[in-house]
Amino acid sequence: MWPYPKIVAHRGGGTLAPENTVAGLRAGLAYGFHAVEFDVMLSRDGIGMVMHDPDFGRTVAGEGSVPGSDAVDLAGMDAGSWFGPQFRDEPVPFFTQFIDYCKEQRIWMNVEIKPADGFEAETGDWVARVTRDSYQAEIAAGETAAIPLLSSFSFAALAAARDAAPDLPRGYLLDQIPTDWQAQASELDAVAIHTNQKHLTPALAAKIKAAGYGLFCYTVNDPARGREILSWGVDGFCTDRIDLIGPTFA
Ligand code: G3P
Ligand code: MG
Repeated sequence: MWPYPKIVAHRGGGTLAPENTVAGLRAGLAYGFHAVEFDVMLSRDGIGMVMHDPDFGRTVAGEGSVPGSDAVDLAGMDAGSWFGPQFRDEPVPFFTQFIDYCKEQRIWMNVEIKPADGFEAETGDWVARVTRDSYQAEIAAGETAAIPLLSSFSFAALAAARDAAPDLPRGYLLDQIPTDWQAQASELDAVAIHTNQKHLTPALAAKIKAAGYGLFCYTVNDPARGREILSWGVDGFCTDRIDLIGPTFA
């Protein structure tokens, strides 16, 4: 149900580096992490970029947006200074750069499809195609644990990913688990439910596991809480505190 790593570094390197940057991946590796979650959004010219927010102002300075900018301009922006001067000029990565780095360093990827409003299907389709093309050998060889897991809060994005690359596994992200979660997950042919640890209960965890799904939580930064949800049958979670919760946490 969950052939993937149990502990995953959130947005690259959690709180130790600017989110969704190669510096974050490097920070994760320094702490022994070979599993990462990050967010992918399409630029105006339809290229997947590793960014969480559609609008500028938090991780990159200025006004504007990811869906309103071309990839080459996004890639030239400073996504590091907000975090600390030592990260100045750390660029907004292309998704393909993250793929190359993760393949080279043997880092497993949970790719969160993060569409800007109105680009749900387009983003799901693009991310699935590019991921599938990069992992053809692993898919053909059935190397399940090495194949990235796509996830999204957007049903439409995941449906488009399913149609574009049915062989890639999908996790359905739900902040709170709705009563019809299983019908939705089944329609998406999802392998896992990804949910907010704050709202999970032991009963819900048991239901999801009994139905045969992997169960992944975001974002656990307290080791005691991590142990608690793992005792409920949660298969894995992502953390910002890669310094407190290591890859071998149990
Ligand atoms: O994929 C889990 C988690 O990253 C979802 O929330 O806002 O951090 O992308 P967010
Ligand atoms: Mg995310």
